[in-house]
Parts: sequence; C-alpha cells; structure tokens
Amino acid sequence: MRQTLVAGNWKLNGSKESIQELLKGILAGMSEAKTAVAVCAPYIYIPMVQEILSGTEVGFGSESISEHDSGAFTGEISGSMLNDFSCQYAIVGHSERRTIFGEKDADTANKFAAARKYGLTPILCLGELLEEREAGTTEEVVARQLDAVIGLEGVGALADAVIAYEPVWAIGTGLTASPQQAQDVHAFIREKIAKLDAGVAEKVQILYGGSVNGGNADELFSMPDIDGGLIGGASLKAEDFLAICRAG
Ligand code: PGA
Repeated sequence: MRQTLVAGNWKLNGSKESIQELLKGILAGMSEAKTAVAVCAPYIYIPMVQEILSGTEVGFGSESISEHDSGAFTGEISGSMLNDFSCQYAIVGHSERRTIFGEKDADTANKFAAARKYGLTPILCLGELLEEREAGTTEEVVARQLDAVIGLEGVGALADAVIAYEPVWAIGTGLTASPQQAQDVHAFIREKIAKLDAGVAEKVQILYGGSVNGGNADELFSMPDIDGGLIGGASLKAEDFLAICRAG
C-alpha cells in the first residue's frame, strides 16, 4: 500500500515572517494529518525551514536543483548545498521551469539525476498544456517527459522518486482536472512504468497537482492511482494546507 503524500510548493512566495507563521501553523495541526507532509521552499529560506522542521514529521526540500555539482554556474544551487541543509526533496521539471525558464526534457532528466546523486528524492513533474490536451496528445506528452528521465537514469530510478502529474491548464487557475481525468493519466503513467518494471510501478507515488484544495482533495486522493498532491496556492496558508493533509 502506497502512503499518501501532500507536498507544498511555495514558488516565489513568502517572507521570513510569513514562513515562520505558516510552519508554526502546520506543525500545530499535524496530529490530524492523514498523509505524509512536506514543503518545498525558495532556496534562501531553506536554512530557516530546516531549523523549524528538524526533528518534526514534516519533510522539506527545494523547488529546483542545479544539474551541476559545482563550478562557474552563477545563481545555481547544487545537490551538495541542499545536503548541507538536510533537504529530502527537490522538485524537478515543474511546468513553470519548463515554460517560463525554458527547461527542456533533457534538462529535467539531468536535474532528476543530480537530485538522486545527492540522495534527494526528486519530485518529477509531468503535464500537458491546454492545447495539447485539446489536441488529444496528453499521453504522448507525458510519455515523452517521462521517457527522458527513464532514458537517462533507467526505470529503477523511479523507485526512489515521486512523480507529480500536473496538467498545466489546472495550475493556479482554479480549474482542477476531474478525479477521473486525473486518474486516467495516473493509470497511464503507472501502466507505462509497469511495462518496464512492475515492482517500481507498484511502489512509485504519483501525486496530482493543479488547484487542489480542501474541498476536492478527498475525492482526488480516493482514486486508485492518485497517491497525494503537489500543492501551490493552497500550501501558503496553514489552514488551507492542513485541510488537504486531513484528506485521503
Ligand atoms: P496550484 O499549483 O495548486 O496553485 O494549482 C500547483 C503546482 O504548481 O504545483
């Protein structure tokens, strides 16, 4: 039985004060959480997040990672730096990295490899644009994004990873994929992995992301192949985030 995971993705939000308050609120409500819980923070706040969360049951990580180990890569943060602050997770391939910052499938695969190299659990985001869904190419797009990672790292690498299916048209828009729409893509992803390695397919957590909130989380998480959520907007207020952690 796979454990349900709810991971927050704060994106470019928060301040020293608001994050302290948010984490205090999350910790205060953790006794009611039915899921495993983690937060992914802007790099600069990670030392503070570590200080507040170490020794608690809330995991934490980064929103991206450099594919490089060290050297002349201005502005980058490496896996070993994230290790210095005990990060457990690194989001890779978020659609905002892909569409706004031009990260290609191959870049995402390299970041996935870097996370694993440093013992971090990559949260690998996959998802189609609205025009791709309308053109009927959702499965093709998700398969291509996943194949880039499998091609570089092998299917076995997914055993130490989390996948997040996030239809781009549902992110931050209030438009959630219906539980059945999400389930269909999750099942497709799991079946695709199962063709290569049934054990890995059974084990890997596949989260859904895209306008998840306290009102829709229960139904989404009750689908057989949805193992939790990657949460943007609703991860910024403790009460909203906890409402999702109480689902599932
Ligand atoms: P959202 O973002 O919950 O605000 O739609 C999800 C994400 O981008 O991971």
